[in-house]
Amino acid sequence: MTEAIRELPLSRPWLDEREEELVLEVLRSGRLSLGPWIDRFEEQIADRVGAPYAAALSSGTAGLHLLCKIAALGSGDEVITSPLSFVSSANCFILEGATPVFADVDPITLNLDPAAVEAAITDRTRAIVAVDMFGLPCELDELRTIADRHGLTLIEDACESLGAEYRGRPLGAHGPSAVFAFYPNKQMATGEGGVVATHSEEEWQLLRSLRNQGRSYDGGGGWFNHVRLGMNYRWTDVQAAIGIAQLEKLDRILELREAASQRYGELLEDLNGVEAPSGADADHKRSWFVYVVKLDAGLDRAAVMDALRREGIATAEYVPCIHLQSYMRERYGFAPGLCPVAEDTSSRTLALPFFTQIDASDQHRVVEVLGAAVANAA
Ligand SMILES: Cc1ncc(COP(=O)(O)O)c(C=O)c1O
Repeated sequence: MTEAIRELPLSRPWLDEREEELVLEVLRSGRLSLGPWIDRFEEQIADRVGAPYAAALSSGTAGLHLLCKIAALGSGDEVITSPLSFVSSANCFILEGATPVFADVDPITLNLDPAAVEAAITDRTRAIVAVDMFGLPCELDELRTIADRHGLTLIEDACESLGAEYRGRPLGAHGPSAVFAFYPNKQMATGEGGVVATHSEEEWQLLRSLRNQGRSYDGGGGWFNHVRLGMNYRWTDVQAAIGIAQLEKLDRILELREAASQRYGELLEDLNGVEAPSGADADHKRSWFVYVVKLDAGLDRAAVMDALRREGIATAEYVPCIHLQSYMRERYGFAPGLCPVAEDTSSRTLALPFFTQIDASDQHRVVEVLGAAVANAA
């Protein structure tokens, strides 16, 4: 009899009795939405990231979109963002009619290169959506200086980076409104969900109104009193309860992910053809979101992924460039060559199984199979 293959997923949230207990409390309260749990969660996460206000929403994309609405981005405006990100970083302002401009990334940090951002500015540029990619803080101070000099809005897409620190302070504490997200592959998972950390009371009130169909944010005037055009981007109390349980163990989550990343780093040290992620330093403390390695040029990535798949090990190409997605090419005529560093990176990167409770023995197995696959793919 052949031995069954042990399946290893790319990611998996850490949920236990505490989430069950709090969700049950919500269910028994009879109030599934617009109850007290969201307020409680918002206070706790604001405190955690060092921002005076936080507004929870149905997703990270919803948070980014509302920030673009509040900045009044629209037709004729250009917005600069990273090509090496999830599509939301650009969709959030395209939805408002603005035009995407992609500036290339730094080959080590994989975040926006401030010099490329500066070079991409025209007299139509209105905003920068800066991404903290793979949990690593972007060059926030330099980007803010550029934004201030040109009178641009700076929006921070920190959806992958809850818990990361820039120059000794958490993302969210620095001033630009920052959005975090809670899809199940994230450090903190609630199913769906996102939050905007903001330093402006006025913006916070607007976010609360806009997420709830433009109702007056203080609840005055009754349920059918709509004072502006809004969306249904409401979160639920069930998700907020999961979020509160996740926040309680966030330190442990970050610690375990850090340990798992170190283990991968050590295991990969002597493996030819595979480069471990880097870019963190005293000013940029990464919060480990995914573990993305870069294969040497010329290696057949598809063959490597195939070999891992045959052993039950999930991997993913992480991430395709936004500007080369079919809808982007069709709509804007983007083509390869626009952002060479991002394109080269995205053609060679690979996410390995990585989650809070990953077993050391599974990580050994991943690297062993990866090593053999890379040797064969040369
Ligand atoms: C960089 C980045 N931005 C935005 C988002 C959007 O978050 P959500 O899926 O919650 O809408 C994600 C989520 O995967 C992301 O990785």
